[in-house]
Amino acid sequence: MHKVGLSVWQGDITTLALDAIVNAANESLLGGGGVDGAIHRAAGTELLDCCRKLGGCPTGEARITPGFQLPSRWIIHTVGPVWHGGQHDEEGRLRACYRNSLALAAQNGVQSIAFPAISCGVYGFPAELAARLAVTQCHAALKAQTGPERILLVAFDTKMAAVLTAAILASNEHF
Ligand code: APR
Repeated sequence: MHKVGLSVWQGDITTLALDAIVNAANESLLGGGGVDGAIHRAAGTELLDCCRKLGGCPTGEARITPGFQLPSRWIIHTVGPVWHGGQHDEEGRLRACYRNSLALAAQNGVQSIAFPAISCGVYGFPAELAARLAVTQCHAALKAQTGPERILLVAFDTKMAAVLTAAILASNEHF
């Protein structure tokens, strides 16, 4: 379905049948709008019951649940930073989302994983900067060969697809 390494895919992340998809959640883990809402709608109410038991998730960290009604086996929920202008370690916290999600994926034997553009919607993070951070973190994980061998960066629209593609091309390594 997708070549090994890092690639961009445009569409609804809930339709992907991979080992895991990543949810851009909030600290309550009790659902919301955007991709969080789409994942909860597609996974079904068992997901909310399961998330309630997790007791939330601090920004930058990640938690794993089954995918329930989703075609993907797992959901890795991570909480991105809200963009407040870039002076509040937003970059470090977004890097942590990718790093911690990929580490949790590795711990669970996840070989294929898809990320939405974490924090680039409601949380207002600048897309180009977020794309650069995502590509850097994913390339590092692929090089370490400890976690997933196939990573999809999912764009929900053509603008984000172009931003993500440009970020991969601008990075000096291609997987
Ligand atoms: N599939 C893939 N990507 C999607 C989907 C989908 N079904 N729906 C939305 N997106 C994209 C958006 O276009 C955006 O580029 O996901 C990216 C992240 O946007 P948000 O979902 O708004 O997430 P975020 O910016 O991290 O804000 C998180 O929003 O939904 C609430 O509960 C969530 O409070 C949290 C906040």
